[in-house]
Amino acid sequence: MRTQVGIIGAGPAGLLLSHLLHLRGISSVVLERHSRDHVERRVRAGVLEQGTVDTLVAAGVGDRLRREGLPHQGIELRYGGAGHRVAFEKLVPGRSITVYGQQEVVKDLIAARLADGGDVRFEVDDVIPHDLDTDRPYLTFGGERLDCDFVAGCDGFHGVSRPSIPAGALTEYEREYPFAWLGILARVRPSAEELIYARTDRGFALHSMRSPEVSRFYLQVAPDEDVAAWPDERVWAELKARLETVPGFVLAAGEILEKSVTPMRSFVAEPMQYGRLFLAGDAAHIVPPTGAKGLNLAVADVRVLTEALALWYATGSRDALDGYSRTCLSRVWRAQHFSWWMTTLLHTFDSEDPYGRRLQLSYLDYVTSSEAAAATLAENYVGLPFEQSP
Ligand code: FAD
Ligand code: DHB
Repeated sequence: MRTQVGIIGAGPAGLLLSHLLHLRGISSVVLERHSRDHVERRVRAGVLEQGTVDTLVAAGVGDRLRREGLPHQGIELRYGGAGHRVAFEKLVPGRSITVYGQQEVVKDLIAARLADGGDVRFEVDDVIPHDLDTDRPYLTFGGERLDCDFVAGCDGFHGVSRPSIPAGALTEYEREYPFAWLGILARVRPSAEELIYARTDRGFALHSMRSPEVSRFYLQVAPDEDVAAWPDERVWAELKARLETVPGFVLAAGEILEKSVTPMRSFVAEPMQYGRLFLAGDAAHIVPPTGAKGLNLAVADVRVLTEALALWYATGSRDALDGYSRTCLSRVWRAQHFSWWMTTLLHTFDSEDPYGRRLQLSYLDYVTSSEAAAATLAENYVGLPFEQSP
């Protein structure tokens, strides 16, 4: 079997890459380890930057997103007994975010790929990349062989792509955090119109949403937290303790549909390419979710990779492919810093560090009183404009 680009992983990165390549007349095959049902149900991120929405709409996969996505013009920072709105319409006019679940993006992309006759294979075991440093790389899986011109490693942090690069060819940068997030999906109307990022001495809490009937919450918990330690009553009690901290705010409770623990990590592998293998999305870098950047970075990588591959197929020039990693990494490191900064600002660290707590509160006061500081948060949160295409 032969294709132009062999794509490992049917998350947002792999599926969008396959779709964008198709729009450029470039063929691909997507190999995914899990079932279609599994990837369509996986509850993860929910905040789409302006540029991500624009990309999906321009690629013809934004109809449901435009109908069902919830556009937001601001977020609230809640701490010290008060809420403070960061107003995008004033700070970054014309740019905003849209709340739309990652699994809905995945569903839309899978539907589009299949409608266009795309080759997306689920439940594929033992994908192994070969001969990545030659002009004829190939993938083997379940007794089959896929020859390709290029391999796109879109298989997330625990995938097979990055480990298939020889030791010594990559430099890895990493930071771990002394906490995790407990994510909660609940059938209950959101208790606020906009997202609330709450800093409390009990830990961080985030109030988000998916629809007028479904809310999404996150709680800072211990890094090795067991979901079983969080029966529904404890979840609601803790959410109330961390969110009902301003006068008049009442958190509506409802049926909990899903709970899971997400570890927090910052990670970058450089360069994001080796021979004919190109890493995109979580396969190359991870951010803690506080800045809502993971999914958006995956989309930005895939845009750059599509342009670079399109140039190669149109002209034979490898220039843009050779510059892929450099182009992506400037955005990646900006998002790394922003995500680390938002995480550091809002989470509770060692209770024995009153100096650190004072610094947090000082910076929160600055962000909520200085327009310049608020604009820095806002422009990073809604997403910086994409670089010129290489
Ligand atoms: P993924 O979505 O991880 O997709 C990779 C795909 O590759 C998966 O479908 C996987 O099954 C497949 N795969 C892996 N290995 C193989 C293999 N060997 N062979 C074939 N297929 C393989 N970001 C936020 O902004 N906010 C959040 O709240 C948030 N929550 C998250 C919760 C969890 C549990 C995780 C893991 C991530 C979360 N993220 C969040 C990050 C965000 O979801 C990711 O940045 C985003 O999914 C990246 O997309 P991707 O396509 O690069 O990787
Ligand atoms: C959501 C996730 C995030 O990581 C974030 O910062 C904001 C919202 C969400 O899942 O809705």
